[in-house]
Amino acid sequence: MIIAETITDIRRAVAAARADGRTVGFVPTMGALHAGHLSLIDAARETCDYVVVSIFVNPTQFSRGEDLKQYPRTPQEDIAACEAHQVDAVFIPTVDVMYAGGALTQVSVKKLSETLCGRHRPGHFDGVCTVVAKLFNIVGPDKAFFGAKDFQQGVIVRRMVDDLNFPVEVVICPTVRAPDGLAISSRNLHLRGNQRAEALVLYESLQVAECMIHQAHPPAGEVIARMRTHISTRAPEAGVDYIQIVDPLSLQDVISTDRRVLVALAVRFGGVRLIDNILVE
Ligand code: PAJ
Repeated sequence: MIIAETITDIRRAVAAARADGRTVGFVPTMGALHAGHLSLIDAARETCDYVVVSIFVNPTQFSRGEDLKQYPRTPQEDIAACEAHQVDAVFIPTVDVMYAGGALTQVSVKKLSETLCGRHRPGHFDGVCTVVAKLFNIVGPDKAFFGAKDFQQGVIVRRMVDDLNFPVEVVICPTVRAPDGLAISSRNLHLRGNQRAEALVLYESLQVAECMIHQAHPPAGEVIARMRTHISTRAPEAGVDYIQIVDPLSLQDVISTDRRVLVALAVRFGGVRLIDNILVE
């Protein structure tokens, strides 16, 4: 496995694989790899000949006051996990390598970035799009793998790829959950005391929503109200950032639930903000 710290080195490694006629799969991450990330790596391994993983905690997607400093960094464990999952190359640049010329250019996907998490994290998706565009240009993959846990991110990256004609196929893989249903996230490690048990309200309330929609297609407002009640009853200390029911393509709010919808929410437990979502057919 190649460990590349510079743009020249990762480009050279990918070019050599391409010269051998190999297809290139890419999994962008911020490290602290867990089962969710590893599922993307395995999906890339299954469908591509050469698998590249990037590990880069991207400062431009954190706004002031967010958890950039506390974001877990475990490069040695990450590299070992990549090796164990037959990754071919790990790209692990520093901030200076990625933003050598500063960051005067930004990629921003309007509208799709202004709802759900975007409304609560201004500038976040501009940071994500800019770094993903740069990584796509550096690595040049055929396919890039993202997790459905960050559903909005996947929709936005897909739109960026379409609008800017990147020759990349964006593949969205299912959310990996702990046995009790909690979506796996590096932020789960920061949950203290009974917060871990209370965090189950995200998955539980999504199941409540799914059940209601399947049974009777009630108006979205009714479903959201029931989810709010569930959360405030089971986790009174938790703060709901948002609960939205949206069209899975446009990410705009829907009123009626008699078609395919995405139910998504973000909930804070102390300083830990967790997100989850479910697609209801
Ligand atoms: P990060 O949070 O490290 O996530 C990297 C990828 O892993 C994302 O596509 C995310 O959706 C996926 N992922 C995280 N938890 C998952 C889970 N439980 N099940 C399935 N997939 C999961 O997302 C980012 O990094 C950054 O924004 C990035 C795209 C790397 C740009 O900086």
